Amino acid sequence: MKLVSFKLDGDDIEIETNPDASLLSILREDLSRLGVRTGCLLGRCGSCMVLVDGRPMQSCSTPIWSIEGCAVSTVEGARPGSWMARVREVFLEEQAAQCGYCVNGIMTTVAGYLDRAEPPSRQHLLELLDERHLCRCGAHVRMLRALDRLELEACQGKLA
Ligand code: FES
Ligand code: FES
Repeated sequence: MKLVSFKLDGDDIEIETNPDASLLSILREDLSRLGVRTGCLLGRCGSCMVLVDGRPMQSCSTPIWSIEGCAVSTVEGARPGSWMARVREVFLEEQAAQCGYCVNGIMTTVAGYLDRAEPPSRQHLLELLDERHLCRCGAHVRMLRALDRLELEACQGKLA
């Protein structure tokens, strides 16, 4: 067992745990972040994506010991005024999901990349989503509509 300290959505967390436990299992089973979804557990589907120090990471393949001292952000813990909160709002307005299983992971990746000095181009964002996320439903057109709105806002520096 090992004591691991990190920030979760702005709050200080200290947890004594098996250091090899995945960040995903700790978030879901110990910290009630059920919006971080369990999917393939192989780092391929993106349903478990969270931000670690602002970078999208698959929490299923991230051992808890490796996030000592880091800041972890989740969609459900999004702070008002953050890109995470804005992405959630726009996805909701556009109804950009069908079953919704993949969407928290997708929103996390989008928020992580918009929250940069140089937001990525639409093409780059689409390639990232294509590489890292699996969605088996039919909400892609609505997701693209949400992405276009968000990318425009990022280019206009709306949250900056
Ligand atoms: S559950 Fe983590 S990438 Fe699929
Ligand atoms: S909305 Fe169902 S898997 Fe993406």
